[in-house]
Amino acid sequence: MSALLEVNDLSVRIAGLHILQGVSFSVAPSGVTVLLGRNGVGKSTTLRAILGLTPRNGAATGSVRLGGEEILGRPTHGLVKAGLGFVPEDRCVFAGLTVAENLRLAERTSTPDYDLVFKLFPELSKRSRQRAGSLSGGQQQMLSLGRVLLNDNRLLLIDEPTKGLAPKVVTEVAEALERAASAVPVLLVEQNLAVVRRLAGDAVVIAAGQVAWTGRGGELLADPELTRSLLSVNAAGGH
Ligand SMILES: Nc1ncnc2c1ncn2[C@@H]1O[C@H](COP(=O)(O)OP(=O)(O)O)[C@@H](O)[C@H]1O
Ligand SMILES: [Mg+2]
Repeated sequence: MSALLEVNDLSVRIAGLHILQGVSFSVAPSGVTVLLGRNGVGKSTTLRAILGLTPRNGAATGSVRLGGEEILGRPTHGLVKAGLGFVPEDRCVFAGLTVAENLRLAERTSTPDYDLVFKLFPELSKRSRQRAGSLSGGQQQMLSLGRVLLNDNRLLLIDEPTKGLAPKVVTEVAEALERAASAVPVLLVEQNLAVVRRLAGDAVVIAAGQVAWTGRGGELLADPELTRSLLSVNAAGGH
């Protein structure tokens, strides 16, 4: 199975700091590839570099190939058009607008796939007139996934979707991610190991600016010593 996304020797400097120092990994053409690592190692920076969102006082070098084609350095709008869907860390729903309005604003094609979105998240259809600001954290996360899934995507890049959510909501979001990943391959930054365990596809661990480990997610989690040394967390716990 050839990779959908290949990141090779990706380096990112921001404001004189060498944040990523030659990161290489690949993303499978289906399911969830999880990007892990301690706080501040450069997980969000990796997603942003793939999307051409490295800040102006920074630079990204190396290679990122999508379906074999080099995309590093291409403008973000072109990458979005080419099918990279991004769900950033802060969910970014418009609190004062309804669910339906939030979805309308996310349409990027003349044929948005509402069937898919409502099939994956019937809750959004039921709550279409509700103001997004009054949704639960889990429902807001579904809405931000729905906004991206309306359009044609080759790959979703999702940054810490369960961050700051209560455990019960985390389970809800994990289910939502599972459903999204059944439709589109996902590169997921996720710190919650229960979610990683549930979605367990390939895992990539970043440490000290480089890839420290790659393999199956289940393999990583089955080895508490390895998990602890790479992530300094207890595999039995959530964080
Ligand atoms: N725009 C920026 N300006 C300066 N430093 C940044 C910027 N973005 C990220 N960094 C730094 O890069 C490192 C990696 O950040 P980040 O990718 O957000 O980590 P993670 O997502 O793994 O927690 C951190 O030390 C952070 O302070
Ligand atoms: Mg981050």
